[in-house]
Amino acid sequence: MSNAKIISIHSFRGGTGKSNSTANIAVNVARQGKRVAIVDTDIYSPGIHVLFGFDETNIDKTLNNYLWGQCRISDAAYDVSNILPEERKNLIYLVPASIKTGDIAQILREGYDFNVLCDGFYDLIDALELDYLFIDTHPGLNEETLLAASISDILIIVLRPDKQDFQGTAVTVEVARRLEVPKMMLLINKALSNTDQAQLKKDIEKIYQVPLVGILPQSEEMMQLQSSGVFSLQVPNHPLSKVYENIAQMIIKS
Ligand SMILES: Nc1ncnc2c1ncn2[C@@H]1O[C@H](COP(=O)(O)OP(=O)(O)OP(=O)(O)O)[C@@H](O)[C@H]1O
Ligand SMILES: [Mg+2]
Repeated sequence: MSNAKIISIHSFRGGTGKSNSTANIAVNVARQGKRVAIVDTDIYSPGIHVLFGFDETNIDKTLNNYLWGQCRISDAAYDVSNILPEERKNLIYLVPASIKTGDIAQILREGYDFNVLCDGFYDLIDALELDYLFIDTHPGLNEETLLAASISDILIIVLRPDKQDFQGTAVTVEVARRLEVPKMMLLINKALSNTDQAQLKKDIEKIYQVPLVGILPQSEEMMQLQSSGVFSLQVPNHPLSKVYENIAQMIIKS
């Protein structure tokens, strides 16, 4: 039996920073010498592959092919360790979802079997001898997200300091409690520079009774990157990178 941990990154609303957070946290965990994979389960609007320099011209097999029974999930796992400065191999893998119009249309039309997706997670953990499997999700409460949450060891919920996000997060936390997710973490993204961080942490933890593991400031440098890379590798000494590093440490210790 593997000791791998499954970590899902979710948010109730879109555009909160899930994909960037997933990539940055996963990379920081890998840099500690852990074997890591990321699966893009945002199959209706995939995107995390962009941060790792993939586009439709250099993706062959995807999660879609696996879900359609055309390959093993590990055949759709790409070693992206070359982005690490350490010159290591086989430390971090990405399973992208297809960005081809026809493939997305097929998934929308036909759906897919959630049990197959779930089996894929465990198969990937075994095949790649993973320590951590990160799941980037589609926003909102949908079936694949509930499935991902229900099998996760840790659910990280990303939210912006915004009333709509606050309300949606309350719903997500409640659902995750019903699913008996063993550990939840809240992550605030796009915080304003004048935020009283200590007060915000106190307020958030009181409202949700879930630990707030980081407050990421809204950052012009992050916007300038435009998802063309993994921020903490590009701008290592930035406050944002420190927060990602810290969360990676917390995950490894938990
Ligand atoms: N701290 C930040 N400061 C400024 N811009 C940010 C920050 N975090 C993320 N962004 C930007 O916000 C946008 C959305 O980020 P990202 O794709 O990670 O969100 P997401 O939650 O995965 O979105 P979706 O719900 O569409 O999957 C991107 O353009 C990204 O560059
Ligand atoms: Mg995303």
